[in-house]
Amino acid sequence: MDINWYPGHMAKTKRLMKENINLIDIIYEVIDARIPFSSKIRDIDEIIKNKPRILIMTKIDMCDIKETKKWIEFYESKGYIVIPVDLLNGKNVNEIIEKTKTLMIPFDNKRQDKGLNKRSYRALIVGIPNVGKSTLINRLVGKKAVKVGNKPGITKSLGWIRINKDIELLDSPGILWPKLEEKEVALNLASTSAIKEEILPIDEVSIHILTKLNDHYKSELSSRYGLEDISDIEEALDHIGRKRGCLMQGGVVDYDKVFMLIIRDAKEGNIKNITFDRFK
Ligand code: G4P
Repeated sequence: MDINWYPGHMAKTKRLMKENINLIDIIYEVIDARIPFSSKIRDIDEIIKNKPRILIMTKIDMCDIKETKKWIEFYESKGYIVIPVDLLNGKNVNEIIEKTKTLMIPFDNKRQDKGLNKRSYRALIVGIPNVGKSTLINRLVGKKAVKVGNKPGITKSLGWIRINKDIELLDSPGILWPKLEEKEVALNLASTSAIKEEILPIDEVSIHILTKLNDHYKSELSSRYGLEDISDIEEALDHIGRKRGCLMQGGVVDYDKVFMLIIRDAKEGNIKNITFDRFK
C-alpha cells in the first residue's frame, strides 16, 4: 500500500527544512501518545541530522498510559529524551524548558571554548499534522509572546518568538508527512485525525477503531456501544446505528452515519484512554 498525498507540498517543506536546519540548535519532535509509532516521522534524522532533540509526546490525557509507557521506555532505550505532555492542561510543559537547558550545556561550553558569548538557543518544533504543534507553541510562549527581530544571517521570512531569556522558538513549526506504506499505520493515523478520513475509506477506518476496542478495550466497546464483541460486524454496525439513531427514512440503518459517528468518537476523545500502536 502506498497512498501518495500532498507529495509536492511535502517535498517543498522538506527542502526548506534542510536548507534552514543550520539555524536551529535544538529540535522538539512532536508525536501523539495514542500513536507513538505511527505518528513518528521515519526519515526525520536525515533532515535534522544529530541535533539535540526532545521527543515530546502530546495528548497523554487521551492515551492508554500503560501501553504508551512501553513506547516511552522503548524510545528512551534508544537514547531519546521523552517528555509526555497534556497540552490542554499544560502538564509537563515546563519540563521541556528545563531539559533544554541541560541538553544545551555542551553547546554553551563549545561557544565558551571558542571565546564566543553565550546566546539564546533556537528551537524548532517538528511533527506531522494535528499532533499539537501549534498548541505547543502557544503553551511554550504563553501570553507574553514577543517577536524577535530579524538578525543578520537569518532568513527574513523566518519569525522567532522568545520563550524566555534562554530560548527562541521558530514561530512556524515544521510540518512533515508520515509515510503511508503500512496499512496499519495509515489506519492508525486516520483513526486519530492525523490524516483526513477522506484519504481512506470511512468503513475501513471505523472498523479499524472498533477492532482495536474489541481486541484491547472491551469495556469501552461495551460502555460506548453496548457491544460485547464484533464477531458479526454487520450486526454490530446495525446495533450501533439503532442505539445511536443513525437511521434513514423507514428506520433503516445508515451505515455512513455509523462510520462517521465512530470516527468522530475516536477523534473527539469520546473513546478515552486508548493507544492504537501496540508494542510487540
Ligand atoms: P498541529 O499544529 O500539529 O496541526 O496541531 P494543533 O496544535 O492544531 O492540535 C490539533 C488538535 O489537538 C487540537 O484540537 C488541539 O486542541 C488538540 N491537542 C493538542 N495537544 C493536545 C493534548 O495534549 N491533549 C488533548 N486532549 N488535545 C490536544 P482541535 O479540536 O483540532 O482544535 P481546537 O478546537 O482545540 O483548537
